[in-house]
Amino acid sequence: MSSRDAIGVFDSGLGGLSAVKEFLNVLPNEKIIYFGDTGRVPYGNRSRDTIMKYAFQDAEFLMNNNVKMVVAACGTVSSVAGDKLERSLPVLYTGVVNPTAFIADQKTKNGKIGVIGTAATIASHSYKLRLKKLNPDYIVYEQACPLFVPLVESGFICRDDQIVRLVIKRYLSDLKESGIDTLILGCTHYPLLRDAISDYMGDSVTLVDSGYETAVYSAKILKEQNLLNDDKASKNPEFFVSDTPDGFESVAGLFLGRNMEHTVTQIDIEQY
Ligand code: DGL
Repeated sequence: MSSRDAIGVFDSGLGGLSAVKEFLNVLPNEKIIYFGDTGRVPYGNRSRDTIMKYAFQDAEFLMNNNVKMVVAACGTVSSVAGDKLERSLPVLYTGVVNPTAFIADQKTKNGKIGVIGTAATIASHSYKLRLKKLNPDYIVYEQACPLFVPLVESGFICRDDQIVRLVIKRYLSDLKESGIDTLILGCTHYPLLRDAISDYMGDSVTLVDSGYETAVYSAKILKEQNLLNDDKASKNPEFFVSDTPDGFESVAGLFLGRNMEHTVTQIDIEQY
């Protein structure tokens, strides 16, 4: 293995594990190092300066672990700090905005696209700007859904739950009226509400989320740079968090379908 051999993936917390699952499938020869900033989550309602500071500390931690690529698997970080990370990091970088917007561009037929995300993501207009670059004629409707993250974190994800249905209706009724045919789930947590969102929006609206698309995009750019690992020996992913690993290990085990006991290390992210 060369010194820079792993792919570093980070998120404000647990949500980015949905991307890790896709990375393990799409890039089975690669070593994945994950950092979840569980001690400082959520990022989505914080100021730009704070998100920027956290994003660079997270990336710095991964750089210290000899990664050849950094992936921000967080809608908020990708939206607020993505451009600066891409310019500043000495290794390949991707966030989730570009790969996800690219797929929405392929899916839409009527050019009306909805984007939902955290308050910071929506305030940045990251997806809208990207989509308009792909096609200036697109009509993009944006909606912040700040209650979705705490809802998911509290286990409210069932499509039949009255509270879930009410909150979804509260946030998405205007989008439903707007005639969009594609809806970007621009936050790590929203795929867990996918069934309930789909029930509300109906079959005519295609939902697009970021984990799989970002893994495929990463594979593409690593290949272009001749940085793919062709050594097939299995490599265990490594997981780091900034708060106690206890709860993380069990939820991560569910996300990834493997026993995660004693596989997660706590670090002090403020030192980076
Ligand atoms: N990971 C964040 C995102 O995708 C959601 C959780 C948070 O607010 O930190 O935007």
